[in-house]
Amino acid sequence: MVTADVNCHIINDTNPKGAGLRLASRNRSRGDSQKIERLSMEKGVPIAELLRNEHEYIGRKTLVQGWVRTKRDSKAGIGFIELNDGSCLSNLQVIAEIEHPDYGELLKKITTGSAVLVEGTVIQSPGKGQSVELRAERIHLYGWADPAFYPLQKKRHSFEYLRQIAHLRPRTNTIGAAARVRNRLSFAIHQFFQDLGFHYIHTPIITASDCEGAGETFRVTTLDPAHPVAGVADPYLADFFAKPAFLTVSGQLQAEIFALALGKVYTFGPTFRAENSNTSRHLAEFWMVEPEMAFYDLEDDLSLAQAFIKRLVTVALSDCREDLEFFARFIEPELTDRLQTAAESAFEVISYTEAVNILLKSSEQFNFPVEWGQDLQAEHERYLTEKVFKKPVGIVNFPRSLKPFYMRVNDDEKTVAAMDILVPGTGEIIGGSQREERLDVLLEQMRLKGISAADYQWYIELRQFGTVPHSGFGLGLERLMQFITGIPNIREVIPFPRTPGHAEF
Ligand code: 4AD
Ligand code: MG
Repeated sequence: MVTADVNCHIINDTNPKGAGLRLASRNRSRGDSQKIERLSMEKGVPIAELLRNEHEYIGRKTLVQGWVRTKRDSKAGIGFIELNDGSCLSNLQVIAEIEHPDYGELLKKITTGSAVLVEGTVIQSPGKGQSVELRAERIHLYGWADPAFYPLQKKRHSFEYLRQIAHLRPRTNTIGAAARVRNRLSFAIHQFFQDLGFHYIHTPIITASDCEGAGETFRVTTLDPAHPVAGVADPYLADFFAKPAFLTVSGQLQAEIFALALGKVYTFGPTFRAENSNTSRHLAEFWMVEPEMAFYDLEDDLSLAQAFIKRLVTVALSDCREDLEFFARFIEPELTDRLQTAAESAFEVISYTEAVNILLKSSEQFNFPVEWGQDLQAEHERYLTEKVFKKPVGIVNFPRSLKPFYMRVNDDEKTVAAMDILVPGTGEIIGGSQREERLDVLLEQMRLKGISAADYQWYIELRQFGTVPHSGFGLGLERLMQFITGIPNIREVIPFPRTPGHAEF
């Protein structure tokens, strides 16, 4: 027989037609209006919900389920379990009687990493560090973790070590907190665009075009390199798509198609780049949010990007407070100030030419030389946003030669209507532009960059049939995560990082 708890209790179905069980809910927390019929296993209260509404739970019989972070026994015959269920950073303290007739023997077995159910009464805690605790009346051990082998013992582990156990690292404070922040931000991204009337478009993962033209694509093929097709002039004809195909580096070009039909759209999905760079801000697989808007020029694009970042930072500050306080305490002491500045003050906007002049005049020693026409390196970006302006900076109008074919050529013919947004700690988090909507200029750009008009006939036709000024940008979700959490290496803000030489799990 299943047991009832405060949060949701399972009762016999009184529906004459229905056999089995019906779940009734007396829960007051958000999202509980959705009833799930017929759940057969016991379901505990999320620890986040218990701690958020602790006064409602005091004195009540409550059931929780999770993983033991630590267990210690006192001389007074009491066992203390720190239980975490991932619903929030905080653990729930469970107090249990070492000699309890029902669970005493079981309690002795419980170790760090074990998965347990505890049912008991919530009481005000006399101890320091928590205001409520759970006095155990029943304990069930789902799965034991052998302390001789469980790799996550109660001590600080290095991030490098945790990457090797990516199947267990979500049970650590940092990786758990990052996963919760990432979840909240992903939802906020949809909310932001949906509130503004954007349509969410699923752009393809497999594509024949290299949007950024940087040649950093992963090839998609069913051909076996160990058994090359012999005796054919065009080996691609034997391949799945009968032509070269790749994993997308950006959904932009396809988003443009829909922007020129639905007005304002966004795509949000995984993108892939075979950049062979082992840096703390590059992944081979990362998630990008790409809005694309008809009737937007570069200035509008920049305004939208600024509002977008501000909203995401504001949501994180208000809804992920506990996790951000943890990051501010253990990872990046300046985090709160940095986020508050981003949420409250207007971003600085300068041209690429102004940025180069500031860098040339500075007394800072850079590893890469600064020269008009050269790309800004991470060290230059960080100098501008961290030392000069101390807040997010938009850089606009980059040299035409540095940027892809689709960016709109400015009247000076030397620069394009591009924008990058840089933030302290991370550097570039957004890249975008106004798109070239003039057919003749686009064709000239493609010719100069060596892009085959035949391959992009559909893109050209968008300029032949009802072309309009339009703009968009791409925000790297992991770069945003680095900015919002202060986590220094991008490998910690994505559940399973893919980098050169690493595709485990
Ligand atoms: O500046 P990028 O290359 O711009 C584009 O791909 C455009 N097609 C976007 C658009 O206009 N729709 O990339 C956009 C952002 C970067 O600013 C960065 O945040 C992120 O994507 N990014 C990466 N993040 C992690 N690892 C990598 N290798 C990344 N490359 C780009
Ligand atoms: Mg870029």
